[in-house]
Amino acid sequence: MSTPAKRKAQSPPAAPPPSSVPKTKTPTPESKSPAHRSPTLGSPAHKSPTPGSPTASGDVQEPTDILGGAYWLQQGLPESDIDSTLGGDDDDMSSTASISSSILRYRTINGRTYHSDAAANKDYCLPNDTKHLDALEIFTHAMDLMLGGKLASAPIEKDLKHAIDVGTASGLWAIDFADEHPGCEVIGTDISPVQPTWCPPNIQFEIEDANKQWTFKPDYFDYIHVRFMTGAISDWDHFYEQAYRVCKPGGWIEHIDTTANPGTDDGTIAKGSALEQYGHLFEEAGRRLGMTQTVAANNLQEIGLKKAGFINLTTQTFKMPVSPWPQDPKRKELGAFARAGLTGDIEGILQYVFGNVMGWSQEEIAVFTAHLRQELKDKDIHAYWKWKLVYAQKPLE
Ligand SMILES: C[S@@+](CC[C@H](N)C(=O)[O-])C[C@H]1O[C@@H](n2cnc3c(N)ncnc32)[C@H](O)[C@@H]1O
Repeated sequence: MSTPAKRKAQSPPAAPPPSSVPKTKTPTPESKSPAHRSPTLGSPAHKSPTPGSPTASGDVQEPTDILGGAYWLQQGLPESDIDSTLGGDDDDMSSTASISSSILRYRTINGRTYHSDAAANKDYCLPNDTKHLDALEIFTHAMDLMLGGKLASAPIEKDLKHAIDVGTASGLWAIDFADEHPGCEVIGTDISPVQPTWCPPNIQFEIEDANKQWTFKPDYFDYIHVRFMTGAISDWDHFYEQAYRVCKPGGWIEHIDTTANPGTDDGTIAKGSALEQYGHLFEEAGRRLGMTQTVAANNLQEIGLKKAGFINLTTQTFKMPVSPWPQDPKRKELGAFARAGLTGDIEGILQYVFGNVMGWSQEEIAVFTAHLRQELKDKDIHAYWKWKLVYAQKPLE
């Protein structure tokens, strides 16, 4: 298990203020504005495929109550933040590709890098650069705290031989798991080759697009680990079918995931607030990209795992405070790390979704970001992300 000492903690960097942002609040009606500008790439904002109808990825709700970027620009910066915070179709290809130069040819959008088109033909919305991976490292520690330091909750055998971590990012979980199980061969897959070269001898990283046909042998893995892949998968039923095929009879799959929309038990997320809008905007972007952001809320884990044939499902739920608002010291610490992970790269998290998918300008994104940062400092807002951990077993026969 990694400790906070092992993982470096950092305070959120402050980005420079945009030049053309109004610095006082202008009261405006809560009008909705459509996606109206594409930021720098020149490509139009993504269009919603079939609004209102259920999709293969599980979204069923109409986009509602979304405030456009122009609304936030009209709001101007929150008072106390003025000086500080601104800052194709699937083919038949298999899911594994060797690390060729094309996979290292990342896309660059507003100075941030994203996975290469050669690695996946779906647009995963988060960057793969150091700034983002550093923030994810902090968020990983929040997940460790939330899960009580357990790397696996499924009742896996102590002497398991083959495990896989799908969407491993910089491989933090996979490395810890390989350390804890030296007799197990651990494979970490991702669409970005951002894993370290220094790692335990029993670990191997591969470029593999989980949206395609998985290349591993049938009935192979004793344990399949999937975490925080909401917004990355176009068809969860297909994903679990692939997982079922490569899972050994009697082996386990564990999938821990969340939903972009933050919740509250006491109504302290105001309608029209940046936190509330954050959820709506990510949900809508997930619809437009065809990769749902509501995995946990729509019970896609339970539905897909059962459909694929897994049995003995166990579900656990967790509330991760978005900031250190709780009184309880442990939950306060959890909220502090969650917030540090989020604010460590808030610009990177929002850039693709708000800019390229929703069509907001950089100034609009910057003002929204300032409001979001402000709300994350407000201890009277008792928001949390709901996480769901589901593990299940492939029948012996
Ligand atoms: C939010 S990160 C989560 C990383 C890690 N599982 C964790 O729990 O910290 C999601 C990761 O999934 C990867 N990813 C996105 N789409 C993918 C796909 N189609 N196949 C495999 N990995 C993918 C991203 O590159 C990113 O590293």
